[in-house]
Amino acid sequence: ALVSLRQLLDHAAENGYGLPAFNVNNLEQVQAIMAAADATGSPVIMQASAGARKYAGEAFLRHLIDAAVEAYPHIPVVMHQDHGQSPAVCMGAIRSGFTSVMMDGSLEADGKSVASYEYNVEVSKEVVKFAHSIGVTVEAELGVLGSLETMKGDKEDGHGADGTMTREQLLTDVAQAADFVARTQCDALAIAIGTSHGAYKFTRKPTGDILAIDRIKEIHARIPNTHLVMHGSSSVPQELLAMIREFGGDMKETYGVPVEEIQEGIKHGVRKINIDTDIRLAMTAAIRKYMFQNPSKFDPRDYLKPAREAATEICKARYISFGCEGMA
Ligand code: G3H
Ligand code: 13P
Ligand code: ZN
Repeated sequence: ALVSLRQLLDHAAENGYGLPAFNVNNLEQVQAIMAAADATGSPVIMQASAGARKYAGEAFLRHLIDAAVEAYPHIPVVMHQDHGQSPAVCMGAIRSGFTSVMMDGSLEADGKSVASYEYNVEVSKEVVKFAHSIGVTVEAELGVLGSLETMKGDKEDGHGADGTMTREQLLTDVAQAADFVARTQCDALAIAIGTSHGAYKFTRKPTGDILAIDRIKEIHARIPNTHLVMHGSSSVPQELLAMIREFGGDMKETYGVPVEEIQEGIKHGVRKINIDTDIRLAMTAAIRKYMFQNPSKFDPRDYLKPAREAATEICKARYISFGCEGMA
């Protein structure tokens, strides 16, 4: 059944686990996530970005997720809008049936300039007021995602800032987080701790100076009843990079967020973990390998099947390591 995000996050908090929130853009990704959830007995969060809506269209995304609910009636599913850039975008998603929205007021509606704190409070509050009146959950974001190696905000997917930033801008402030949640009444808070979107997060396996898991602990100690969200949480498995390179791909050396670090976050209030890149890497590696080994095949089902299976495997692994098994 379609459920609200709040319901799942509360259950995760009560039972000490975290939920991966997977981005979806097409049929095979939706099927892979559902197969993984079914195999592990996990609840599901599927989220659609602005890019997904542009690629597939809101109607297709909504009906794909509805089809997932129909095919797996025993699995609770959240239909979440990822990175809403304005209250209008969030209201639109709510009207079209999303059970949860992210109001990302950390950046201005242009998705590029860093927003003022007061702007963020105002837009988040506005969405919460509308959403809560009809049982929809709201995730807000405080702090700008970006790299503590380059001191650059994350603009790969269009929601970053220009130029370098200060360490303080790139890490969510603890006292401000408490004030923000009190004023906006958001259900979940995305925080900045040194992760960024996409495959190129770190040039080495991250240590505490560039991935601030300690900041999660400080924020959680201050606002223990707020569900925390980690964006940019793909682990960028080295074996997938190796496979992509082996079969003709060209990807530079790069590192993601290690699963053990996410598990540490889950011990300290992280309940929603956003993952898109890992599914992209898994599908691309499988398709490259298949195409390379079967140059005469041309039926899309032939190569989309191994891609879907590879996506299922990565989703299963995340459900298991985040403690979701049997929680559906
Ligand atoms: O928000 C980031 C997700 O990875 C979505 O990426 O905007 O390319 O769909 P996208
Ligand atoms: P990744 O690029 O690390 O998968 O992050 C996805 C994300 O945060 C979507 O909002
Ligand atoms: Zn994100």
